[in-house]
Amino acid sequence: MSPNTFSQIVLRERPVADILPDTFESKTKEFGELQVGKSQALVQVTYLSLDPAMRGWIKDERSYLPPVKIGEVMRAGGLGVVVSVGEGSKFQKGDLVFGMFGWTEYAVADDKSMQKISPPPGSTSMDFLNALGIPGMTAYFGLHDVGQLKAGETLVVSGAAGAVGALVCQLGKRAGARVVGIAGTADKCAWLEDDLGVDKALNYKSPTFREDFAKAVGYLDVYFDNVGGEILDLALSRLNQNARIVLCGGISAYNDPQPKGLSGYLTLITQRAKMQGFIVFDYAEQYPVAVKEIAAGLADGSIKSKFHIVEGLGNAPSALPMLFSGANVGKLVVKVSNEASMSLKL
Ligand SMILES: NC(=O)c1ccc[n+]([C@@H]2O[C@H](COP(=O)([O-])OP(=O)(O)OC[C@H]3O[C@@H](n4cnc5c(N)ncnc54)[C@H](OP(=O)(O)O)[C@@H]3O)[C@@H](O)[C@H]2O)c1
Repeated sequence: MSPNTFSQIVLRERPVADILPDTFESKTKEFGELQVGKSQALVQVTYLSLDPAMRGWIKDERSYLPPVKIGEVMRAGGLGVVVSVGEGSKFQKGDLVFGMFGWTEYAVADDKSMQKISPPPGSTSMDFLNALGIPGMTAYFGLHDVGQLKAGETLVVSGAAGAVGALVCQLGKRAGARVVGIAGTADKCAWLEDDLGVDKALNYKSPTFREDFAKAVGYLDVYFDNVGGEILDLALSRLNQNARIVLCGGISAYNDPQPKGLSGYLTLITQRAKMQGFIVFDYAEQYPVAVKEIAAGLADGSIKSKFHIVEGLGNAPSALPMLFSGANVGKLVVKVSNEASMSLKL
């Protein structure tokens, strides 16, 4: 690549089911085409977050954000370093920032769309993609606001070895709950029990999963659902009275053009239970409360954060399906660059 150009990855075609090799395509962009306007900054992207939600963002349907258009840079949150600023920008060259930069090596971003990152003691800037970022905020507000978890209750978490799920398990333990995590491999279950301290981890791919679930869970008070489908139906069959089901995600259905409905929902009536969806962005004004508690846990070592790092922007399209095959343990990110290496005059 010439020093005058950089790479971006755009949406080429909307997949019908699974993400395919030609769903995205790489483009080369000239730095000369960039214009850094008033209250804007040019950012060199360092790490990008890969999220199950991206599968929804490339569907042409009504949601909480507009669909990514064909030919548009793929939407993604990420970290970066400010390399130059426009007139009146509140940022300075060298600032570490979080923003929705997309699948690109460089981005021009509005000041109001970015946050300056100052890692608290015991944290790193990377934590703003995980425990102190969207996964952490999702875990915290889903569990405490939607789930209303209380000490002594039984909490069941699906997708437990993923970014959100691992944090829900740990916040659940901090809150004094008995925590059962569900994940797709024996190694993930061992990590949940041995490193994160969940009371029991269950492999949903085991032939004895249904019996294991009944034995380990008994009846549950809060089910934090990241996956939907058959595991949600199973959880619905094991509700205590006044149970709360937190609908955070339903990854088992994201690639399915015709997702199936639930069969076990009538227990919501008999057990006077609640099932509620939420979108983390609605809690944005309260994020500092969660950041404070999670940062304290990171600092004293009681909250652990694991990353699965894929090298190079060009590998983002082939890494995204890892979320659906379960190849990631912890937060999946793409390393785009080490640090700002250029100072552009624009
Ligand atoms: N509501 C919100 O505001 C909000 C915000 C952020 C994320 N979310 C949702 O939270 C969930 C977790 O997101 P994340 O970023 O933390 O992803 P993640 O858990 O790090 O990665 C996804 C994991 O899902 C599991 N999985 C994939 N297909 C599955 C299936 N068919 N059945 C059961 N498990 C399956 C895989 O683990 P296994 O090996 O265990 O199968 C995979 O590692 C997603 O559903 C996401 O959409 C919601």
